[in-house]
Amino acid sequence: MQLIDGKALAQKIHSNVAKEVETLKQEKNVVPGLAVILVGDDPASHAYVKMKAKACEKVGFYSITHNMPETISQDEIIQIIEMMNSNPHIDGILVQLPLPKHIDTDKILEVIDPKKDVDGFHAYNVGRLVTNLDSFVPCTPLGVMKMFEEYNIDLEGKDVCVVGASNIVGKPMASLLLNANATVTVTHIYTKDLKAHTSRADIVVVGVGVPGLIKEDMVKEGAIVIDIGINRIEDGSLVGDVDFPNVSKKCSYITPVPGGVGPMTIAMLLSNTLKAAKARA
Ligand code: GUN
Repeated sequence: MQLIDGKALAQKIHSNVAKEVETLKQEKNVVPGLAVILVGDDPASHAYVKMKAKACEKVGFYSITHNMPETISQDEIIQIIEMMNSNPHIDGILVQLPLPKHIDTDKILEVIDPKKDVDGFHAYNVGRLVTNLDSFVPCTPLGVMKMFEEYNIDLEGKDVCVVGASNIVGKPMASLLLNANATVTVTHIYTKDLKAHTSRADIVVVGVGVPGLIKEDMVKEGAIVIDIGINRIEDGSLVGDVDFPNVSKKCSYITPVPGGVGPMTIAMLLSNTLKAAKARA
C-alpha cells in the first residue's frame, strides 16, 4: 500500500505558484488578488477561510476577506460580489459555502463573473467542464486529478465509483473522470446497494461527510481509495469517510486524512486564482 501524500504535493504546488507570482509581478506588474466572502459564524468555514487567506499571503497574492454577519441580506451579498466583479485588483471571487438558509445560494453564485469564478461553481463553468472545454474547475476534484497525475495513475478505461453527488465535489469529480475516459458510477444517498458499486471499482472516490462509511469489505483487493471527507469526531480528531486502518490494508494507493485531499483544495484555489490573474495580464 502506498500513501498519496497530498501535503507534500500541495507544498510543491505552492512553491511553483509563488515563483510564477514573482514573474508575473516583474514582467507584467500584476499581483493576483482573491476576494473571499464569508457569512456567519460557522467555525469550520472560518477555519477554512483563514487557511485560504494564509496560503494567499504566503505565495504573494493580494487577498481580502469580507466577513459578514449571519443576518446579511441576499441583496447586500450581491452588492459585494458586484463590487468585486468590477474591482481590477481582484482576479478571483470565492463565496464560502454553506450560506445561511435565507440566502439563495444558486442566485449568489450566478452573480460572480465567470472569469473570476475560481471555485468553478458558476453554471457557465459547470457547463464548460461537462463539455470538456477549458474552464475553472472546482478545487477539491481538481486536486484529486492532480494527485492521480502525480502518482502516474492511469484513468483510461478504469471503473471508478464516486460516492456522493454534490455540486461541489461528486458531480464535478464525475465529469473530470469521464473527460479522462474512465467508466464512472456516481452513487448517493438514494443508492440501493452502495457496496455492490464500490466493491467492483478499481478506484473509489468518496466525499460525503460520514466518518468510516467505506469499510474493508466494500473495496476490492488492490483498489485505489481517495478520501475527500473531513470529519471531526467526538475525541476531537479528524477522520475521513473511509475506515482507514482496515481499508488501507487492501489498497494499492490511499489518501490519508488529514494530509491527503484537504491541502490539495487550497493548492488548487491558488492555482485557479493564478490562472485568472494570468488571463488579466
Ligand atoms: N465549502 C466547502 N467546500 C468549499 C469550497 O471548495 N469552496 C467554497 N467556496 N465553499 C466550500
